[in-house]
Amino acid sequence: MTLFETIFFIFLLSSLRPSRSAEICRISCGVQSIRFPFRLHNQPDRCGYPRFNLSCKNQAQTVLSIPFSGDFDVVNIDYMFQNIWINDPDYCALRRLLQGLNLSGTPFALLYPQSFTFFNCSTASSTELPDAKYISCLSGRNYSVLAIPADRLDLSTSLSTSCSVIATVLVPISWTGWSNPGNGIMLTWNEPNCLFCESRAGNCMFKSDTGLDVGCSNGFTNGLSRRSRYGLMFGVGIPILFILGLVIYLRRKADNYDLQHPNSRGALPDSIRPRSRLDAAAKGLDGKTIEAYPVTLVGESRRLPRPNDNTCPICLGEYQAKETLRTIPDCEHYFHADCIDEWLKLNAACPLCRNTLEPFALTVS
Ligand SMILES: *[C@@H]1O[C@H](CO)[C@@H](O)[C@H](O)[C@H]1NC(C)=O
Ligand SMILES: *[C@@H]1O[C@H](CO)[C@@H](O)[C@H](O)[C@H]1NC(C)=O
Ligand SMILES: *[C@@H]1O[C@H](CO)[C@@H](O)[C@H](O)[C@H]1NC(C)=O
Ligand SMILES: *[C@@H]1O[C@H](CO)[C@@H](O)[C@H](O)[C@H]1NC(C)=O
Repeated sequence: MTLFETIFFIFLLSSLRPSRSAEICRISCGVQSIRFPFRLHNQPDRCGYPRFNLSCKNQAQTVLSIPFSGDFDVVNIDYMFQNIWINDPDYCALRRLLQGLNLSGTPFALLYPQSFTFFNCSTASSTELPDAKYISCLSGRNYSVLAIPADRLDLSTSLSTSCSVIATVLVPISWTGWSNPGNGIMLTWNEPNCLFCESRAGNCMFKSDTGLDVGCSNGFTNGLSRRSRYGLMFGVGIPILFILGLVIYLRRKADNYDLQHPNSRGALPDSIRPRSRLDAAAKGLDGKTIEAYPVTLVGESRRLPRPNDNTCPICLGEYQAKETLRTIPDCEHYFHADCIDEWLKLNAACPLCRNTLEPFALTVS
């Protein structure tokens, strides 16, 4: 190896190292990607923040164990907005809330909680009240369970005497489609705060081997940002590579060389890419690409092709007739157009399956 080659490869290795150490902690369980602050319990402790351990059931379903409230299926983790969407394995999240969801000992809190009072009524009394929600998964043949916002208890006077109060509990209000037993519970966390790092597609991680200080391998702790590393790689790396190739070329063809066709670019290793998939995902899509994704007007039947249900995974609102939905062509997941458009401007990835999406111009070329 020449001195040039040695210097270049040392440079290459040192510039790739930070992302490689973050790779060790990235794992997936089914379609759910798991990374800092979360870790699977069989991963190294330092891959995740304390109390953010998850387990992976049958290599398909991510499970969050809440110390005093049992196991929940993880529907989705939104690293960007620091939310985790969980559900009861039996699709009756409200039963779990009524049993008393005790989040002490966890880093999580309910997202936008609002107090609701639950009533158990004999069937005859289950008159339709405009603001009362009928909870199908808790109701039986001879009784129905209704919920009324706790600040609207004036409404309960119109409930007959055969209704009895079960309990008043906090319910995440973003959950507008909540009579659908398939809906879950949205939790949020504040610590550790990786929002800034996530928004820059950085690798949020511990700053050192001890302590709980969190940094971003994207430059705030390492001095060099990802962009400047690529900049250096291309500003310094390619010229060195070019010179190297030229030297080799000149040496081999010392007698008969042609400066018009230096064969140096062919030597660019496959592992160096101008832009990683993560970079692309963090950048978001341009308006033209988003507009090019197909839209659907919800019909009266409100039925969508599988694997969708009738709730928007972003705002958790149920689809109503005549609303405009947008589909991501790669995976055929549906969302409210308003919700997904905002998301795609920030992330070039499907929020459900995390498929990375290419800008339109690249797809057609
Ligand atoms: C999470 O990990 C910690 C430390 O490894 C352990 O004490 C705790 O029991 C784990 N919790 C769950 C729910 O696995
Ligand atoms: C949660 O459970 C623990 C242990 O049983 C208890 O000490 C604590 O008061 C409970 N918190 C709430 C809000 O119920
Ligand atoms: C509601 O009342 C019925 C009997 O009237 C009972 O069987 C049922 O378990 C009650 N449901 C709840 C959620 O309390
Ligand atoms: C519920 O209704 C059925 C008939 O629809 C009746 O046979 C049964 O005894 C009722 N159960 C209760 C607990 O009232």
